[in-house]
Amino acid sequence: AEDGYDLWLRYRRVEDPGQLERYRAALGTLVWQGGGPLQQSAVEELGRGLTGLLGTRVAPRISAPSPAALVVGTAKSSALIRELVPAADLAELGDEGYVVRRVTRRGKHFTVVAAHADRGVLYGAFHLLRLVQTRRPLEQVDLMERPATPLRMANHWDNDDGSIERGYAGRSFFDWEKLPQLDTRYTDYARVLASLSINGAVINNVNTPADYLAEPFLTKLAALAGVLRRYGVALYVTANFAAPIDLGGLDTADPFDPGVRGWWTKQAAEIYGKIEDFGGFLVKANSEGRPGPLDYGRTHADGANLLAGALRPYGGIVMWRAFVHDSDEKWDRQAYLDFTPLDGKFAHNAVVQIKNGPIDFQVREPAHPLFGSLPRTNSMIELQVTQEYTGHATHLCYLVPQWKEVLDFDTLKAGEGSTVARVVTGRVHSYTHFGFAGVMNFGDARNWTGSHLAAANTHGYGRLAWNPDLSAQDLAAEWTRMTFGNDPRVVKTVSALLLDSWHTYEDYTSPLGTGYLTHPPDASVAGHFDPSPTTTTQFHTSDRAGIGYDRTTATGDGFTELYAPATRDAYESPANCPEELLLFLHHVPYTHRLASGTTVIQHIYDTHFSGAARVADMRTEWEGLRRRVDHRRFTDVHRQLGEQITEAAKWRDTLVAYWFDLSRIRDERRAWLQA
Ligand code: GCU
Repeated sequence: AEDGYDLWLRYRRVEDPGQLERYRAALGTLVWQGGGPLQQSAVEELGRGLTGLLGTRVAPRISAPSPAALVVGTAKSSALIRELVPAADLAELGDEGYVVRRVTRRGKHFTVVAAHADRGVLYGAFHLLRLVQTRRPLEQVDLMERPATPLRMANHWDNDDGSIERGYAGRSFFDWEKLPQLDTRYTDYARVLASLSINGAVINNVNTPADYLAEPFLTKLAALAGVLRRYGVALYVTANFAAPIDLGGLDTADPFDPGVRGWWTKQAAEIYGKIEDFGGFLVKANSEGRPGPLDYGRTHADGANLLAGALRPYGGIVMWRAFVHDSDEKWDRQAYLDFTPLDGKFAHNAVVQIKNGPIDFQVREPAHPLFGSLPRTNSMIELQVTQEYTGHATHLCYLVPQWKEVLDFDTLKAGEGSTVARVVTGRVHSYTHFGFAGVMNFGDARNWTGSHLAAANTHGYGRLAWNPDLSAQDLAAEWTRMTFGNDPRVVKTVSALLLDSWHTYEDYTSPLGTGYLTHPPDASVAGHFDPSPTTTTQFHTSDRAGIGYDRTTATGDGFTELYAPATRDAYESPANCPEELLLFLHHVPYTHRLASGTTVIQHIYDTHFSGAARVADMRTEWEGLRRRVDHRRFTDVHRQLGEQITEAAKWRDTLVAYWFDLSRIRDERRAWLQA
């Protein structure tokens, strides 16, 4: 039965006999003339994938007797590749790029997956499999790919006790009790990352004890790194800034203290002694109670540079998070205010990791004002794949459209066209390190993400990190084809469900940028799931007179001032700001009229009802796929949509009651409700 374990690496036999025949002819013979471990992994995956897809055993051989063959490798490792692909083409591919192309020589048809380096062969192999999984013709194939960014990271918020902060797919599959003993799940995890060309994994929580930096963890980490290495993934850990105290027994962690510097130097040497390709550290410092350089009157740059200095001899990097919060009042501006004065002060091997928005992964936020504001500081974007505020593993909320909006946002900070995507792909400023981090939604659930459909977010994240220009439509369709097959009705229905889900969730939870309304985590609740508008008033600042948070420069907290002048001017005005951000930026009377002529309060009532109603339609749409999707996954998703219907009704009823209570304005269209 289909339990979802394969995710999108599902290699079911091609159904159409004609198409199957063509794929068999082209790819049934696999020629590989040897290469390093990454090529070995590529060939293993091709063997596994093609054997499934073609329904006939495909195994590598060193020459091509048949009239057609699949040829994989690098120029260095394969004479056949040297013959088939001009050296000049390969030279342009860098360490991670590849070509997939059809070449005809001496009457033979070769499908070639070629790269300059082994890692490119691995990514090219996954690309070829994707082409077959999505049933693309190969007769004319001729593509060349290179990643938009060097850093494409998976961030896990997993704890050493097996719990996962903001994880909704069971417990952690990193088993610290059993490690360094390995498990095939680690290999499958590495395969999944490589299929998305994710090349780095931070395997522990940003809120971390110092333990991971020393034994007994190092030996366990080394074992894990060995598995990841075979799939081109470098291992990173988060570092606790107070480690010199907690682990080293020093009485300070002051970055200017020579003893502290010496401790980090020694620790880096020990780590690299065990893991020679260790990636580096991710650090959350001076935020939400974590230790950091500010404890010693130093700056974030001083802190980052301390660790960067220790890692530099080995080529490691420090990713220093800009999610810094110690007060609710300054919440939206603190990162900007703390980091912009430090621009140019960070080491070359340090990168500032910036969440997509200024608050905390809400369903709707403007792009973070730090993007484009750090011309001389390496920057990367942090996206949240796990659905902390967007419905956990219960609500369907496909976040790719949200991420696309952020990536397409034009910061204007270096003139027109300085979009977030261009900033984090190093095309606006001359960064040495840049890219993407995604807070993962994986756990030990058999299907990895708890919900089958939530895996679309994992897939979309990785694919965007490789190429942020890919469209949400294409990614939704690609994931659906790979995960559920190519039945046109399935592709159309599931893609539409995915693409509409974020707006739907927004409509019944928090339209117009009303913001943070979920219950804060405490001992009794999972947190950030149920509606709880009364406990988050400091974030939405609604009262009897009006609704929304005034972040204007004229009368509010001055947040709008952090944007380029044209954006600031638009944000400053309730008439000109994007409507979906109205209440994020302004406090307006409930009777404020939107462009449509509807009042804010009526719009809120309407969207809560229409959004919740749409969830019922979603389940009806899904029901149309009975027997087109395997039974097990069909019923799992069906059940989950049933839960979502209940939860959406809870959101609708809680919020409609809450806003009525505050505004005392009746719902014109449903007067019976509040009679
Ligand atoms: C959110 C989340 C925390 C997390 C924090 C962070 O606030 O709720 O669990 O630690 O973000 O990103 O550091």
